[in-house]
Amino acid sequence: MCACAGDSETTAAKPPSSGLSLENRRSFLGALLGVGSVFVGALLSVPLIRFALFPLLRRTTELKSSSVGELREFSSLTDPVMRTIQIEQVDGWRKAISEKAVYVTKDSQGQLRVLTSICPHLGCTVPWNKEKNQFVCPCHGATFALDGTRVSGPSLRGMDTLETSVQDGQLQVRFQYFRQLVSDKEVIG
Ligand code: FES
Repeated sequence: MCACAGDSETTAAKPPSSGLSLENRRSFLGALLGVGSVFVGALLSVPLIRFALFPLLRRTTELKSSSVGELREFSSLTDPVMRTIQIEQVDGWRKAISEKAVYVTKDSQGQLRVLTSICPHLGCTVPWNKEKNQFVCPCHGATFALDGTRVSGPSLRGMDTLETSVQDGQLQVRFQYFRQLVSDKEVIG
């Protein structure tokens, strides 16, 4: 009888905390699983978010070279010649082909130089004036020398030169837009 009483006392004396530990372990595992799921979900969503935002984050205009003509065409150049080039503009997912007028001319050392025809003052197209031997802007009268350097008028700098290269005998130019109304050449697209 005493032994029975002793047994029942032994059972009753089991620590009540073992049930709580199990509860705690379950909660901990649940929390761990939750954190893991959130982490994996966030990791997997990064490429999707980047894919969706790609057109907004990339440069508006992708810069590609366009052919101006064969290099030998410009070997005996005396006056600037206007050429129309095709440029591909990428705006988000949309691609557009447009045409731009540029001038092929020579600098004071006789090296070929390609100028954009956009006036650095307010953006009018600047024609070459053979009689005056200058570029003369029809909008506000800015004038530029044969190599595009500023001569007079409201423009704060000379006509903008474009980056050139030669590939397979073709003169290539990389068209760019520059900020107007400033004295330093600043690419904006
Ligand atoms: S836009 Fe050419 S001088 Fe004003």
